[in-house]
Amino acid sequence: MGRVPELPRIAVLASGEGSNLQALIDRLHGESLMIAGVGSDKPGARALGRAEAAGIACEVFPLADYPDRAARDAEIATWLKGLEVTTIVLAGYMALLTAPFIAAFRERIVNVHPSLLPQFPGLRAIEQALEAGVEQTGVTVHLVDEGIDTGPPLLQQAVPILPGDDAQTLRARLQPVEHDLLCRAVTEHARSNRSPAAS
Ligand code: GRF
Repeated sequence: MGRVPELPRIAVLASGEGSNLQALIDRLHGESLMIAGVGSDKPGARALGRAEAAGIACEVFPLADYPDRAARDAEIATWLKGLEVTTIVLAGYMALLTAPFIAAFRERIVNVHPSLLPQFPGLRAIEQALEAGVEQTGVTVHLVDEGIDTGPPLLQQAVPILPGDDAQTLRARLQPVEHDLLCRAVTEHARSNRSPAAS
């Protein structure tokens, strides 16, 4: 019998609710890839509970434990390299990453953002779209570079804004699209970048 090929390994960074993490756990973990670890800047984030429930190793990196963001990111980078992951997914990770961290994992960091970038980057993307009065917004999954939501898109999908929408109804329409696009993009990224990020 031939050797069973190992699944690609990814890590996820998340700060909040973790619905995108849950989609990765439910649809991909143990099937097309392994989530080797989940890291957070926020102790008690719901995302950490979701990872623990799935038996995935968790680490918390609160900024208050470090002299500055660079020191915190250096420790996250060391942790990630130890996990030997091909892909690092930002799934609602709200801390800004420092330039050396991004350089260490060039083209390895994937982010999901609730707009059709380059429209509405940064915080409150859903509210920005509503305030702009546009008829559609959407979801972008992209590689992370040093800018705010400026890296090259991997997948994008438009979502209509309907009369009477508020942030809650629009978010509810965007979320399943986020989950689908993120799972597709991460599967493809992990499959085509099989060797772990260099140490
Ligand atoms: C999502 O809207 C994602 O696009 C943005 O942060 C939110 C995270 O949601 N980057 P969740 O924590 O995955 O539920």
